[in-house]
Amino acid sequence: MGNKEKTVRVSYSGKNIDVALGSNLRDVLLEHNIHPHNDKATFLNCRGLGSCGTCAVEINGKVHAKTKMEKWRLDFAPHKGTDGLRLACQVKVKSNIKVVKHEGFWGQLKFT
Ligand code: FES
Repeated sequence: MGNKEKTVRVSYSGKNIDVALGSNLRDVLLEHNIHPHNDKATFLNCRGLGSCGTCAVEINGKVHAKTKMEKWRLDFAPHKGTDGLRLACQVKVKSNIKVVKHEGFWGQLKFT
């Protein structure tokens, strides 16, 4: 009765993960052995500070507006700011979402 924690679902490549509402997306993925970074970015990343841009993912579903840091990083190369990618480390999961990681060091190759 009563205090049941609200959960939402993160889907990634056929895997469904139920997480606490408001969880950090990068943390959730890493906790489930899903790396939001490609290749060498697995080691060469800012560890969630929002400055390297290598945790960029496509998110299908309702997501909050970009944080200031996220907007700043996604507005310069190789990101375009308008390609719909989000930084997993800056996203709090607040509804059911589907996550896709694209190719490229920064995961920036959305249309290839
Ligand atoms: S881990 Fe560097 S921007 Fe997300």
